[in-house]
Amino acid sequence: MTDKSLWRGARLATLDGAQPWGWVEQGALITEGEHIVWVGPESELPAGLTPAAEHDLRGAVLTPGLIDCHTHLVYGGQRAREFELRLQGASYEEIARAGGGIRSTVAATREADADQLLRLAQRRLDALTAEGVTTVEVKSGYGLDLESEARCLRTARALQGAQVRTSYLGAHALPPEFQGRQDDYVEAVCAWMPQLQREGLVDAVDAFCEGIGFTPAQTRRVFEAARALGLPVKLHAEQLSDQGGTQLACEFGALSCDHLEYLSPEGVQALAASGTVATLLPGAYYFLRETKLPPVAALRAAAVPIALSTDHNPGTSPTLSLLLMLNMACTLFRLTPEEALRGVTQHAARALGLADRGRLAPGLRADFCVWDVEHPNELSYYFGRNPLLQRVWGGKVT
Ligand code: NIG
Ligand code: FE
Repeated sequence: MTDKSLWRGARLATLDGAQPWGWVEQGALITEGEHIVWVGPESELPAGLTPAAEHDLRGAVLTPGLIDCHTHLVYGGQRAREFELRLQGASYEEIARAGGGIRSTVAATREADADQLLRLAQRRLDALTAEGVTTVEVKSGYGLDLESEARCLRTARALQGAQVRTSYLGAHALPPEFQGRQDDYVEAVCAWMPQLQREGLVDAVDAFCEGIGFTPAQTRRVFEAARALGLPVKLHAEQLSDQGGTQLACEFGALSCDHLEYLSPEGVQALAASGTVATLLPGAYYFLRETKLPPVAALRAAAVPIALSTDHNPGTSPTLSLLLMLNMACTLFRLTPEEALRGVTQHAARALGLADRGRLAPGLRADFCVWDVEHPNELSYYFGRNPLLQRVWGGKVT
């Protein structure tokens, strides 16, 4: 007896190989421990297989586990009042400049104790995993002092039920104690980095390069500190204006540039040349009632890999549904349903620098979802419906 498990009677969207969707109509998949060891047509299953468990999926669709590659899951409080103010005409920038916005979440996060932060973040993660998320990226950026940033990153690492990757986003906003001393704060962000890395809390370094965030020159300093420590970078880039942050991030071989509504043609070329993923965040676009669309056709023409994510955060994207982002990416950004699914699997994995997931292929992690649909295009079609039947994470039905 082995610890192999067989999944058969599946319609497979492997996202592997040259076929659209990596489609296998009458498919089977074998797992062993945490990994996939075989994928293919059921008719070609290896002879003499004696699996410890067998699951007949009766024609259900099986896809890779979903990956939410850009979230701010750890924070205190919420910003519904700010939403009301924006509905009355205040802009996101105006609120931020008046000391609201990110800063108000920083105050609430600093006040919350570690247990509270974990309880809140775990509930948010539970909502994501209930829709098939198996890997999630979580950023700091609401602590903005060494101890609070460390607390948020430790909280992220303590989350249960999905694999967590953490990004250090000290350069998210200027904390009140550094008012008028933006460059000093950037120095502090860089100085805290080695300590956070030593504690094993940092998989990547992120920054918010924007008029209300940090300048390209300040972002460069953060990236140089990351490079000196061998840490990969990613960037909140061209969300509200074109700062050329994307070109800068690509100079540093960034894993991803995220948002990108104001991305220029030069930015598109930089992404293509460096192999950096463009992560689109339709939730923030929608919730800020943005009207400038990210240049999807140009990204597509330049063969830039496009990822999608919730960007879950209390200010610009309080959604906890990655499936809803598939629908919004199609309706708002005109992605195809196949591009949308690849955006939350294959390309989201790449945005996190993870080569061991995001497709269904031998040797990759056994993270996958079984859906009550006839075709994977339905994952983008429905909104507000969760057709997840089963989530398998590391070979275990969870
Ligand atoms: O991804 N743009 C900066 N960061 C977040 C918003 C954070 C907030 O408003 O709290 C974003 O949209
Ligand atoms: Fe974000």
